[in-house]
Amino acid sequence: MTDMADATHATTRVPLTRKPGKAAPADAAPSPGAGKTACIRTFGCQMNVHDSDRMRRMILDAGYAEVQAYEEADIVVLNTCYVRENAVDRVRGHLGELSRLKKEGRVKKVALTGCVGAAEEASGLERQFGIDLVLGTHNTYELAEFVGLPGMEETRTPDLPGTGDGDSAFVTIMTGCNYQCSYCIVPTVRGRMACRPMEDIVAEVEGLVAGGTKYITLLGQTVDAWRYDGKRFCDLLERVSEAAPRVWFTTSHPSNMEDRTLRAMGERGTIVGRLHLPVQSGSDRMLKIMHRGYKAERYRRKIEVFREAVPDGALSTDIIVGHPGETDGDHDRTLELVEDCAFDSAYIFKFSPRGGTEAAEMEGRVPDDVVQKRFLQILRAVEKNGFEANQRKVGSEEEIYIRRGLSDSGQAIGETWGGHAVRLDREVSNGAEPGDYVRASISSAGPHALYAGARG
Ligand code: 5AD
Ligand code: SF4
Repeated sequence: MTDMADATHATTRVPLTRKPGKAAPADAAPSPGAGKTACIRTFGCQMNVHDSDRMRRMILDAGYAEVQAYEEADIVVLNTCYVRENAVDRVRGHLGELSRLKKEGRVKKVALTGCVGAAEEASGLERQFGIDLVLGTHNTYELAEFVGLPGMEETRTPDLPGTGDGDSAFVTIMTGCNYQCSYCIVPTVRGRMACRPMEDIVAEVEGLVAGGTKYITLLGQTVDAWRYDGKRFCDLLERVSEAAPRVWFTTSHPSNMEDRTLRAMGERGTIVGRLHLPVQSGSDRMLKIMHRGYKAERYRRKIEVFREAVPDGALSTDIIVGHPGETDGDHDRTLELVEDCAFDSAYIFKFSPRGGTEAAEMEGRVPDDVVQKRFLQILRAVEKNGFEANQRKVGSEEEIYIRRGLSDSGQAIGETWGGHAVRLDREVSNGAEPGDYVRASISSAGPHALYAGARG
């Protein structure tokens, strides 16, 4: 297995900025992938979606045609997530199917990339399933050679351009994470924080906007920890909010979130007012065990500032249920925090031990039935808050950004400036495409979405 620490410094580069599908220059050598097919399957977070886009460009640059089914692919790239146990189980299932297809002579080669590729288990999986190439998250550039392009290397600093197609684009501003949360594998597989220079980021955003991109999402494990040359995240956000017509960012860390950033969200007309701020637990005791670096009261205060600065904004969080040592009392503190913060939505995770993390070795495992009970209590509390908040929006007039045009089910999907998801019926969406805005009033609401027009 190639470890991420092997990444070295830039020498030559594959022209990653070329758009997918665009033909190679006329004087280029015949494409190594001509007449062949490739399938990329992505698991996990937006960082992985972004990495897959980069690998997709290499594959298309090499002349492969992209297909969706394994059976039709000469090479398959599984870009994986390691954050929770069932994610690895899912990958295992896919690898099993792929080794069967390889034996039948259909699929020729399989590459395993992303966080599982960077993890300890990777060499075991490589042997068990006869994987042809295993890559971590910092050396995805090695895929270039695998698909027959000239080899290239890249720095560990994330200075590659994002995706420039379509109405929206992700722009990675930092990679890695300097925290050491007890349960989390990210610092091990993604390495320490590396921030891109402000000017590179702004230039990329300007380029994307000039090319027609209407919605920029700034990406990183802890985006608000970004700093470069004395500048902090808020300085960057302000610059980007001047350069792009619509901006969002994820994921933030409560210890890095500045009031100035929260106020900028409310004051600047181009920033989507949705805050995703993972809290993980409402108990100070658990927050300490998890090494989160803040207390519940400090988190509450941040939320007060957010609610005042962005009254219409949507608030979401991540919560872990059943971390080793979590008592009924700790769980009650989390329920209290959920009530006080009135989250619009939350990703609730049952604790899953990740090999190599501190929590995996801890005593005090919480029995499954207790975890399930706590999980449902938190879920119900969040859904109740989300439903009530959504109900209050019924009747309001919204400017809705269209994210997905009308689907077969007769609904388009959009987002308000406060970051609430809206489902629009055929009549209201009126042929709008991704990137368009539609003015409409909210006709009804559920726990997870607002509706404009008939609910379908
Ligand atoms: N078990 C359960 N949830 C986890 N998360 C990260 N690691 C684990 C784990 N070992 C959750 C956290 C994080 C989100 C991306 O995934 O809530 O914020
Ligand atoms: Fe993982 Fe987030 Fe903690 Fe970093 S801050 S270690 S990414 S949970």
